[in-house]
Amino acid sequence: MNAIPQLPPENVFDWLDTEAEKRADAGLVRRLRARPAQADELDLAGNDYLGLARDKRVVGAAAAAAMRWGAGATGSRLVTGSTELHAELELELARFCGAQAALVFSSGFAANLGAVTALSGAESAIVTDKYIHASLIEGCRLSRADVAAVAHATPSAIQHALSTRRKPRALVVTDSVFSVDGDLAPLGELAEICRGAGAALLVDDAHGFGVLGEGGRGAVHAAGLSASPDVVTTVTLSKSLGAQGGAVIGPRRVIKHLVDTARSFIFDTALAPASVAAALTALNVLKADPSLPTKVTDNAGNIAMQLKAAGLRASLPDAAVISVQAPSAEAAVTWAESCADQGIRVGCFRPPSVPDGISRLRLTARADLTEADVDRAVKVITATAPRGAAA
Ligand SMILES: Cc1ncc(COP(=O)(O)O)c(C=O)c1O
Repeated sequence: MNAIPQLPPENVFDWLDTEAEKRADAGLVRRLRARPAQADELDLAGNDYLGLARDKRVVGAAAAAAMRWGAGATGSRLVTGSTELHAELELELARFCGAQAALVFSSGFAANLGAVTALSGAESAIVTDKYIHASLIEGCRLSRADVAAVAHATPSAIQHALSTRRKPRALVVTDSVFSVDGDLAPLGELAEICRGAGAALLVDDAHGFGVLGEGGRGAVHAAGLSASPDVVTTVTLSKSLGAQGGAVIGPRRVIKHLVDTARSFIFDTALAPASVAAALTALNVLKADPSLPTKVTDNAGNIAMQLKAAGLRASLPDAAVISVQAPSAEAAVTWAESCADQGIRVGCFRPPSVPDGISRLRLTARADLTEADVDRAVKVITATAPRGAAA
């Protein structure tokens, strides 16, 4: 039998250095860059799709809520963390989406963890598109369910996994808009497959809410599924609403079940009142100006078409997210840095954030981009493209 080495304390974390060297060799080192409060650069990397994160009405509501309720929520929702603001936001989110009820979590990540784990378990099978967001994957890992992650955007693979499952209950989990390439899941078809197999459907509408559907009601609403008894939606409040936090939206009995059983709800400090007020005000701004979502999708389409016309491998966006393939992880990093040097901030996705291993620039459109912004961004991205980036 091999003896377990007894390492002195100063060597216990030596393996971290070995791992760091491997990441450096593969071009996968990540660096934190503090952004200034007022940046001159054009932001095509964030998720502030409607430009509401700095809206004076939204920020003012957050400041007023902090003055009234305090800087933090003080406890979990079930102890001291719930305020009338949380209840109002839940009511408004449910009404806006045409669902029975909603539950606010401290983040979209926590909402996904809570929804997946509470709606499955050892007696369940979970079938997912293999490109779902990391927070859903973590939920699957914690669920104790039989999990099958099937080919991307292939409803027949979902159907096959459901029909060959060995567990009585089943949950199908998908993003509405996939976060890497910005493509849309076939929600209508998936809902039909679920119905044929007695399965529930859980849709993460993080990138669809505020961007797609009538007045930004999201991809689930656009597919006519938001009032369905077998469909549950999760959203983040940190993208279109420019705030922070997440929510699960769906049938009343699902929401009641989450309050009693979702561990990322029960054992987590509630979302801060300032963030709740910001999200509530942003939702009111969106309701008052239903043209905002269309501006986002128009701008995204325009950017993608111009990049494609310039010969780059840009995805055709279904919502706000556009990806542009890079020849390698290193080239993607250098490309993104060159764009930043010329005043355009773009995202850079590398493994493990890209499910197919292809590194990309990731661009996000916003409602408040001008034609001149779009032209400048396209010019810089094209001019800085590395060798091998063209289609
Ligand atoms: C598809 C998707 N789901 C969930 C999340 C997590 O949301 P949050 O940032 O609010 O935790 C994100 C983004 O960050 C996302 O892109």
